Amino acid sequence: MTLLALAVAGRGVVDADEPVLHADDEGLLRGRAAFETMRVYGGRAFRLDDHLDRLAASAERIGLADVDRDALRALADEALGAAAADEAVLRLLWTAGRAGSAPVGLALVSAIGEDWDAVRERGVRLVSLLGVKADAPWLLGGVKSTSYAVNMAAEAEARRRGADDAVFVDADGVVLEGPVTNVWWRRGDTLFTPSLELGVLAGVTRATLLDAAPALGYRVEEGTFRLADMAGADEALTSSSVREVLPVVELDAAPVADGRPGRAARDLQAALRAAAGPHGRVR
Ligand SMILES: Cc1ncc(COP(=O)(O)O)c(C=O)c1O
Repeated sequence: MTLLALAVAGRGVVDADEPVLHADDEGLLRGRAAFETMRVYGGRAFRLDDHLDRLAASAERIGLADVDRDALRALADEALGAAAADEAVLRLLWTAGRAGSAPVGLALVSAIGEDWDAVRERGVRLVSLLGVKADAPWLLGGVKSTSYAVNMAAEAEARRRGADDAVFVDADGVVLEGPVTNVWWRRGDTLFTPSLELGVLAGVTRATLLDAAPALGYRVEEGTFRLADMAGADEALTSSSVREVLPVVELDAAPVADGRPGRAARDLQAALRAAAGPHGRVR
């Protein structure tokens, strides 16, 4: 994803190519930084306040100094103004800084790296990979920290196996989430998604879809479910801020239902774009 604009707390917009962190920043040395990634529609970040809430919660769990929400909101505005892009990705970063010093806040605006609408048309193929049910506090379940090397390695493993993405399943076969997505599936008019009690990330898109589902005629069950439930569903899908709603057409090399994108994926994608306002609806 090409970096379009960069703003640094206390400094404002700087050249996107300028180095802005110290080499001994704890975020870099140990992955002790919280981050958020959100979608920009019509030049505005979607559900920025929800992302700031989650960033603040992540920072607290990692033991970072309190997030300065007002400063980061202003920083996001500055970066978005400098990028002047209607459709983009906004990242907020709150790193520990170097030992004994103040945290560093960054706002990065990037171009959307991939044509996700084209991916949406054909659907994605998932493979299940062993993941950890992060239900002990030190496992940092539900925390969005920059220690994402495991998630990126899982994506790479999925591609190595000829799929597009992974879904983590714990040692007991319980479905968790994807490396950067929440997962869902449908039977009849009921949508199923793993409970936050399993330590999965409380996706902002997940929350948007939970809100939208009843008006679309779907009831939702959050709980502890096995991979076989997902594999035998009428359809499956993933949700995330950048990729939005993606239909899952294959799981572990077998088609999900008829192997074609399903109606709930289409309905929920439309509802997400409607929630994003007039700019979300254009495409
Ligand atoms: C592990 C994980 N689960 C779920 C999500 C989806 O969250 P959101 O809808 O807030 O983008 C993400 C987003 O990056 C993630 O990293």
